[in-house]
Amino acid sequence: MKNIMIVTGASSGIGLEFARELSAQRNAGERPVSELWLIARRVDRLASLAAELERQNPGLAVRPVTADLAGRAGGLLISGLLAEAAADGGVFVDILVNNAGFGTYGRFDTTDLNWQLDEIDLNVTSLTAVTGAVLPYMGRGSRIINTASLAAFSAMGCFAVYAASKAYVLNFSLGLAAELEQKGISVIALCPGSVDTEFAHVASEGLREKVRGGKNPALVVKHCLKLLRKGRKIAVMALKWRIKAFLPRLFGRYFTAKVTMITEKRPSRA
Ligand SMILES: NC(=O)c1ccc[n+]([C@@H]2O[C@H](COP(=O)([O-])OP(=O)(O)OC[C@H]3O[C@@H](n4cnc5c(N)ncnc54)[C@H](OP(=O)(O)O)[C@@H]3O)[C@@H](O)[C@H]2O)c1
Repeated sequence: MKNIMIVTGASSGIGLEFARELSAQRNAGERPVSELWLIARRVDRLASLAAELERQNPGLAVRPVTADLAGRAGGLLISGLLAEAAADGGVFVDILVNNAGFGTYGRFDTTDLNWQLDEIDLNVTSLTAVTGAVLPYMGRGSRIINTASLAAFSAMGCFAVYAASKAYVLNFSLGLAAELEQKGISVIALCPGSVDTEFAHVASEGLREKVRGGKNPALVVKHCLKLLRKGRKIAVMALKWRIKAFLPRLFGRYFTAKVTMITEKRPSRA
């Protein structure tokens, strides 16, 4: 029986750090993990990360899976891979990190609609489909980490689709956590503020290289895994982020949407 870990969006940023940290901790649980699946679209990135992790963790097989996970197809793909592995001696999924996602800076009405719909396809539909595909292979002790965002706590002007998509991820995760508790499967929503990754480059279509004031992704990942071990359902690392998460409850979500709309400084081509 293979015991595996799956990380989506593993080719850079937060997902890459999850892959590193989970490899290092793979023998910490009841069942030692034998395989790590790294999923993203960039083949070269995945291949070099897989080589690095296999070198550092003898006995761990790291499988790069080059795929576009967007939409329902993402779930079908994972479902197929798991069925193959199950037919070949059985499979148990120790942890799923649903992390692949992106944002789009700019107003909804002037930003390319298809790009924003792609964002929903990945951040919402794919995350849900992948979870549905993996759950039949989970059991007592399994864990799910869904990367949401600090944006999940508020409506946001000039980030409207992204904030709404991450509000879905947060609420989906909490509902799932309640449903799966009896089965011994734990779920946590990771809700970071700015993290130093390729996020801004993608969201601004290359106009901004770095997320402003981004925290180290390795610290964000370590903190999330620590809270998961403690049975917490939401991970918000920095005090500043926790205060920001509380503000919409104090002033109302429309107010925070209006403020982010007016103070918006993120560059966009729209
Ligand atoms: N950085 C921040 O400030 C921040 C804050 C809050 C939440 N988040 C969330 O954190 C998660 C990770 O983002 P990040 O900040 O680490 O940004 P990133 O460095 O751009 O990483 C995004 C990852 O998602 C993968 N990905 C994108 N589209 C994909 C697709 N269609 N199919 C499969 N994989 C895809 C990318 O790989 P390929 O391009 O190789 O496919 C990459 O591995 C996202 O869900 C993001 O919303 C980020």
